[in-house]
Amino acid sequence: MWTKTVIRLFCIALAGVWIAVIASAASAPNARKGKAYFKKNCRVCHDGKTEGIPALQPSDLIMDQWDKAFEDEEDVAECVPRVKEKTGVELTEQDLLDIQKYLVDGAADGERPMTCG
Ligand code: HEC
Repeated sequence: MWTKTVIRLFCIALAGVWIAVIASAASAPNARKGKAYFKKNCRVCHDGKTEGIPALQPSDLIMDQWDKAFEDEEDVAECVPRVKEKTGVELTEQDLLDIQKYLVDGAADGERPMTCG
């Protein structure tokens, strides 16, 4: 009777470890990758040289503003199809998380305020 309970507990614990491993492997946002994506897919327009498009670099905004830009339907969400049109790259959720991490870390009040030239 209690062997069964022990086995059951063991299985539950094992499943928990598995889930933790899979979740952490999947997607800790990576600022270094985000920087590369940003330069390649965002700065092509947001470089300050393209008419009607605001120049954007990490330290232009504070962390909250970047987070909002990524949540807002009108900012980054609207640029995802623009990126596709301009560079042919279809950004994934993960790519966007990486870009967000790069921008938030580099925000004016972030860990490492960053300009990108
Ligand atoms: C094809 C050109 C193009 C690309 C590529 C592009 N954007 Fe944009 N972006 C725009 C335009 C146009 C606007 C709208 C400007 C406006 O409303 O005045 C805009 C607006 C924004 C805004 C709102 C800025 C503001 O001041 O209102 C943010 C934030 C933004 N883009 C982020 C990004 C990010 C992040 C990427 C890369 C994933 C990206 N954009 C790629 C053209 C582009």
